[in-house]
Amino acid sequence: MPLFDYRTVSKPFEWDNLLVEIGFGRGDFIIRLAKENPHKKIVGFELSGISIEKLYKRLKREGITNVYFTRIDAYWGFFLLFRDSSVEKIYINYPDPWFKKRHHKRRLTNRENLYIFAKKLKEEGSIFIRTDHYPFVEHTLQEAQELGCFSVETGELTVEEPLTKYEAKWLFQGKKLYKIELRKVAEPRTNFKIRGIKEVQEVFPIKVEGDINLEKVIGKEYKLSEGVYLKTFDLYEGQRGYLIEALLSEEGFVQKFFFEIRKKKTGWVVDISKFSEVLRTEGLQKAVNLVAEELVKP
Ligand SMILES: C[S@@+](CC[C@H](N)C(=O)[O-])C[C@H]1O[C@@H](n2cnc3c(N)ncnc32)[C@H](O)[C@@H]1O
Repeated sequence: MPLFDYRTVSKPFEWDNLLVEIGFGRGDFIIRLAKENPHKKIVGFELSGISIEKLYKRLKREGITNVYFTRIDAYWGFFLLFRDSSVEKIYINYPDPWFKKRHHKRRLTNRENLYIFAKKLKEEGSIFIRTDHYPFVEHTLQEAQELGCFSVETGELTVEEPLTKYEAKWLFQGKKLYKIELRKVAEPRTNFKIRGIKEVQEVFPIKVEGDINLEKVIGKEYKLSEGVYLKTFDLYEGQRGYLIEALLSEEGFVQKFFFEIRKKKTGWVVDISKFSEVLRTEGLQKAVNLVAEELVKP
């Protein structure tokens, strides 16, 4: 299963001493890592679908079988897939090409991300970061300090180290490249809330009796509980009933899917469409329950 679907794969992984690359882009680095460590399991997380496709083709072409990768935000990848202390090394290369103040919350090395990375690292495990942007180094060190769990080393990248094609080119052009190592020496401390979602075995369909009022649930926004929001869009008529396009955000974990509202002999059933690929979560069940309740309101 080199390319896997985090929604359906059995979790958390049983493996130990994992090497992980976050944001592998073209894949040069992760491929080298896989070749240099043929007996280790390498996991890659990416947000870009094009990068996922490219890596899939390159791994196949080169016959590499020890890289496991999926399209997911790294925070949720770590949260959902890894046991505590099961990761040996994490690599983050040139993560933030548009480093701006307003992107502060989304940065890969914000304290919340570093917290979840640190939890999953084994003791003495490290996060290796490379960047061409000095303010990113400063930001990362500040955030890391908040957690009190890392010993830190920083420096400039030199030609003596293993480099990707682009790094070699940049150094040749006289560009400064920086490296950071955050080594886990203690458990991370927090004085902030850690976001989480809960997977469930099954999301149960809900039966409603009598007439339904579809207008009640189209183009609406709902707060289901603290941090859980549902937005509904258009309605489509199908052979078995109706489909409603929806977006659910649980603590920032976003899923797009369709509700299916099926006609039964007496009444209707509200369900998640079988064609929607979703991670089954508590929030999804809440969303089904809410739509069922709303539909029967006069
Ligand atoms: C500037 S590119 C660098 C790619 C590659 N590491 C390199 O050195 O050429 C940053 C990559 O990180 C990915 N990325 C950014 N934030 C991410 C996140 N939270 N989770 C997973 N991937 C992420 C982006 O999709 C993008 O492909």
